Amino acid sequence: MTDLTNHQIVLRRRPTGLVDPDDVEAIATPAPEPAEGEALVRNTYVGIDAAVRTWLDDKPGYLPPVGIGEVVRAAGVGEVVASRCDAYAVGDVVTTLSAFQEYVIVRDDLFTTVIPGVVDQLAMLSVYGSTGATAYFGMTDIGKPQPGETVVVSAAAGATGSLAGQIAKIAGARVVGIAGGPEKCRVVTEEFGFDACIDHKAGDLEAALREHCPDRVDVYFDNVGGPILDAVLGRLNQGGRIALCGVISSYVTGEHPGPANYVQLLARCGTMQGFNTLNNWGRFEEAFTALKQWEAEGRLVHREHVYDGLDHAVEALNGLFTGTNIGKSVVKVSDPS
Ligand SMILES: NC(=O)c1ccc[n+]([C@@H]2O[C@H](COP(=O)([O-])OP(=O)(O)OC[C@H]3O[C@@H](n4cnc5c(N)ncnc54)[C@H](OP(=O)(O)O)[C@@H]3O)[C@@H](O)[C@H]2O)c1
Repeated sequence: MTDLTNHQIVLRRRPTGLVDPDDVEAIATPAPEPAEGEALVRNTYVGIDAAVRTWLDDKPGYLPPVGIGEVVRAAGVGEVVASRCDAYAVGDVVTTLSAFQEYVIVRDDLFTTVIPGVVDQLAMLSVYGSTGATAYFGMTDIGKPQPGETVVVSAAAGATGSLAGQIAKIAGARVVGIAGGPEKCRVVTEEFGFDACIDHKAGDLEAALREHCPDRVDVYFDNVGGPILDAVLGRLNQGGRIALCGVISSYVTGEHPGPANYVQLLARCGTMQGFNTLNNWGRFEEAFTALKQWEAEGRLVHREHVYDGLDHAVEALNGLFTGTNIGKSVVKVSDPS
């Protein structure tokens, strides 16, 4: 295997704000040989998750920071091309911590999952895998939407939000998205089937929430935190539930100034609960089965924003914070077999 070249994107210095192209370097190394208990995976698609940016800071999180000189960590999908590990056979399709590179060594651990049956590898990232599971766990375990309730989802045109809202629709709720700009709002209602969508760049968010959520908000699936969270807190219904999925408004600043309006949880007897998909990974098959069935029934629509080649990985990552993406941002690394 040593004749294979592994193109990689490594971290050279810690970014401040968006990732500067000079914060990383593209290098080429020989692909590693799997040792006993390891397998070699050829990455096909690498998912662009907001968490990737948080791993570049020198701060403790649920995974350690990426070290200077290390390959930028990211989750993806790929095919086993060599194996000295009982858990993986050549030809298996796996999701794993692929990182920004062409080849990755995997072991039999929590981070690598063999995908059962034949699946569309791109859809594995956009709907059946961890993105879909995040929407599924957050909405069903914490949001628990009931028929007729009002559910609000932020970053509604994005990967996680678009699925979370559709899962709430499947449960019979009335779903209002929040997204940046008229085109995104059009996609959220016309393609993802939300009942309404508020453009958070268009002005008075509180007034728009009053207009579109006349019965207040029973469930809020929060992808962004910051002022949008404060505005939705102000419209929470009695017994309202907030699923705290992410705080993308503060990942590039590194500051978490809120929520200022949390007293509304007291006034409305509301709850706000965070969750991490990794902690629920033991239930992967439950989420995978439900998501696959809904998609097959045409009840779960997904979109992918595909960047061609690792050279576009930084652009793709920054795009999550500037809001250029609709649906799941993915970098294509190589063709699936
Ligand atoms: N808890 C977990 O286990 C878990 C797992 C995966 C992801 N997440 C979280 O889920 C959230 C969404 O991630 P994703 O990968 O699905 O990304 P995404 O929604 O596909 O893309 C991010 C979107 O966030 C919006 N955004 C960015 N900065 C914003 C700001 N300052 N204010 C308001 N909106 C902003 C932009 O949409 P607009 O143009 O519409 O503003 C952007 O397109 C992230 O917070 C992420 O950390 C959590």
